[in-house]
Amino acid sequence: MSSHPPRPFVLLNVAVTADGKIASEDHDVTTFGSPSDSHHLYELRATADAILCGARTLEATRATLGNGAEAFRRRRLRKGLREHPLRLVVSGSGSISSSAAIWSQRFSPILVLTTERSRSQWKRLRGLADDIWCLGRSTIDFRKALERLHRKHGVRRLLCEGGGELNEALIREGLVDELHITFCPFLLGGRRAPTLADGPGIPVLADAARFRLRSRRRVGPELFTVYTVVRPGR
Ligand SMILES: NC(=O)c1ccc[n+]([C@@H]2O[C@H](COP(=O)([O-])OP(=O)(O)OC[C@H]3O[C@@H](n4cnc5c(N)ncnc54)[C@H](OP(=O)(O)O)[C@@H]3O)[C@@H](O)[C@H]2O)c1
Repeated sequence: MSSHPPRPFVLLNVAVTADGKIASEDHDVTTFGSPSDSHHLYELRATADAILCGARTLEATRATLGNGAEAFRRRRLRKGLREHPLRLVVSGSGSISSSAAIWSQRFSPILVLTTERSRSQWKRLRGLADDIWCLGRSTIDFRKALERLHRKHGVRRLLCEGGGELNEALIREGLVDELHITFCPFLLGGRRAPTLADGPGIPVLADAARFRLRSRRRVGPELFTVYTVVRPGR
């Protein structure tokens, strides 16, 4: 049994090329998934109390982390969830642009997760977001963030939508419970295009995060997979 206080169940959703890239090197190609892949994303959003997204993804994609079609809003209400998910912006240095699209849509609260490094940005961020939480000196303590989200906002199920740097931080901390990976029929190659999990990574295989394939489904040229985490010793 875990000795940690309760935290939300964390799902991570990502579309990858055959070589595990999540965007082209210039970040210009921000999505290569089909409409079925977008639909899958909205379906997952409709099950989540909160959505977590990194600063670079919010700037590159102009995502607002909303419900999409009205049917998804109704689905949330039928399940007893809040009408819209809580929106969580990750920006350790507070560098997120004031012109990111997320700030222009006020349908649900936006919380910025940040660190001491962003102190000079707090006034600006308070003008953009509903709240900011400082969760570390230079990097965000995501376990603390998740426990606090559970306690203060009743977040039981959280969907992380990337990008690669944020994904890696959560995976390395052992905080991802379920992975949804859509394999798309492209190959970008090269060393610099962002991958599913960037950042420092896990240096040795013995310490690699482990997952078990739970389901796979082919839709047209894409493969939709779901993996469940395997905790050490299980
Ligand atoms: N194919 C897909 O499914 C998919 C999904 C999502 C994104 N993408 C693509 O991925 C690219 C962006 O990915 P990315 O890896 O460059 O960026 P990202 O993970 O979206 O954002 C990185 C930023 O988030 C903050 N951050 C992340 N981890 C942190 C930590 N542990 N502590 C503090 N701050 C942290 C930092 O912000 P500060 O710099 O402000 O400190 C960092 O610069 C875009 O091109 C996007 O289109 C693709």
